Amino acid sequence: MAHRGIFITFEGVEGAGKTTQIQRLAAVLGPDVVFTREPGGTPVSERIRDIFLTSDRITTMTELLLIAAARAQHVDERIRPALAANQIVICDRFTDATVAYQGYRGGIDLEIIHQLNDVATGGLIPDITFILDLPPEIGLQRQQQDETHRDRLDKEPLEFHRRVREGYLAVAKAEPHRVKLIDATQSPDAVHAELFAKYQAYLSSK
Ligand SMILES: Nc1ncnc2c1ncn2[C@@H]1O[C@H](COP(=O)(O)OP(=O)(O)OP(=O)(O)O)[C@@H](O)[C@H]1O
Ligand SMILES: [Mg+2]
Repeated sequence: MAHRGIFITFEGVEGAGKTTQIQRLAAVLGPDVVFTREPGGTPVSERIRDIFLTSDRITTMTELLLIAAARAQHVDERIRPALAANQIVICDRFTDATVAYQGYRGGIDLEIIHQLNDVATGGLIPDITFILDLPPEIGLQRQQQDETHRDRLDKEPLEFHRRVREGYLAVAKAEPHRVKLIDATQSPDAVHAELFAKYQAYLSSK
């Protein structure tokens, strides 16, 4: 389904610099950008996010279905209307996070993940996705400097975070046209410069 705006998503392990880089990109793109995040982005979806982040005993399948439910509402209520109004939408995590977290980390069959992503989004695919690639130990170190940052997922063993990274690398390999892999060990300035150059290349190829 064609839309008129531009749908940009940011992905990467915890502490990779998604929030930092979204702010940097937004500063260049100007005031008319819509920011949102997953899970979340609408009142219903934010309530689902709370369940997701604060429940200690939750199966991966429950996680997957909650995220799909939150996403369905988010796409319908927020993302599609903004794109239809020709806006730039920047989303902090989207469908690739489900592949990485519930698929590669959680072990759910990737075919099920892709089907559910497709159902929840009604086939909406980001125009361009930036995966900020970082060894998870560096991301976790960065986050530890910020105590307010820690939630359920951050407390998981490093092995889980490594699988998430592996998932993201697989996504980048499978869809090189849409997905831009950025070395997030670089300085924030260098990450921004690389990312913005790739965004401009995308615009001129449109
Ligand atoms: N390129 C960088 N080099 C060093 N530190 C960085 C870099 N980018 C961000 N940081 C710092 O690392 C921490 C995590 O960054 P940020 O919150 O942007 O990551 P995130 O990917 O949004 O994390 P989360 O997944 O938890 O939302 C922050 O303290 C930030 O200032
Ligand atoms: Mg963030």
